[in-house]
Amino acid sequence: MAKENLRVLLIGATGVVGRHVLDIALADTRFAKVIALTRRPLPAHPKLINPVVDLNDLPAGAEWFSVDGVISTLGTTQRIAGSPEAFRAVDYGLNLAIAKKAHDSGATRFALTSSLGADPSSRSYYLRTKGEIERDLERIGYESLTILRPGLLGGTRSERRLSEDLGKTALGLLGPILPARWRISRPERVAEELVGAIAKGASGGHIIDSGRLA
Ligand SMILES: NC(=O)c1ccc[n+]([C@@H]2O[C@H](COP(=O)([O-])OP(=O)(O)OC[C@H]3O[C@@H](n4cnc5c(N)ncnc54)[C@H](OP(=O)(O)O)[C@@H]3O)[C@@H](O)[C@H]2O)c1
Repeated sequence: MAKENLRVLLIGATGVVGRHVLDIALADTRFAKVIALTRRPLPAHPKLINPVVDLNDLPAGAEWFSVDGVISTLGTTQRIAGSPEAFRAVDYGLNLAIAKKAHDSGATRFALTSSLGADPSSRSYYLRTKGEIERDLERIGYESLTILRPGLLGGTRSERRLSEDLGKTALGLLGPILPARWRISRPERVAEELVGAIAKGASGGHIIDSGRLA
C-alpha cells in the first residue's frame, strides 16, 4: 500500500548496486529517512543516518531496525571473503540475521538482490546459497517481499574480478542477439526496482527476473 514518510534500512550501500540505491532513495520524496549500515562512512546528507558498524556485532535493540522496509544489496565473493563458508556467512548469514531483526522491530517490506539462477538445490555453491537465502527470507513472514535476480552486473568496480570482466566483454559483444534475461543487468535498473518495491510495498512475494534488468 502506498505510504509516505517511509524509513528504509540499506545494507550494502557502498557497493555497485548499493550506491545507486542510496542516491535514488535519498532523492525520493516518499522516503523521510534512509538508514545505511556501512563499514566506511558515506557523504553526509540531511535524510541519511549512517551508523558505521560491524554487521556481525550489532547492538541489541538498536533503533536502526525500526523501519518500514529493508533493501539488501549486500554480498561478497568466495575469493574476497576467503572461503565458501565466509562467503555464505555474508550472503546468507548477515542477510537473514538483519531481515529477522528488522521484522522483529516492525518492518513489513524487504527487497533482496539475489541472482539469476538462484536455487536451493543448485549444484553451484553460489547459486545454492542465493536460493537458500531467498527461501528462508520467505519464511520470515514479510508482508511484502521482492527478490531481484540480476544476471552479470555491469558498472565499474575498484577491484578486478577477472571472470566477471571476461563475462562482461563477451555479453557486451553478444548482447544485441541474446534474450534479455542473459544480457548484462544494469546496476541502476536493479536499484530502481529495489527502491520502487519498498516504496510501493505491494503485498505478497514478487520475483523480478534479469529480463527486466537489462
Ligand atoms: N556481480 C555480479 O555480476 C552479480 C550478479 C548477480 C547478483 N549479484 C549480487 O548482487 C548483490 C549486489 O552486488 P554488487 O556487485 O553491487 O556488490 P558489491 O559491489 O560487491 O557490494 C557489496 C556490498 O556488500 C558489503 N559487504 C560485503 N561484505 C560485507 C561484510 N562482511 N560486512 C558488511 N558489509 C559487507 C560491501 O561493503 P564494503 O564496501 O565495505 O566492502 C558492499 O557495500 C550481491 O548480493 C551479489 O551477490 C551480483
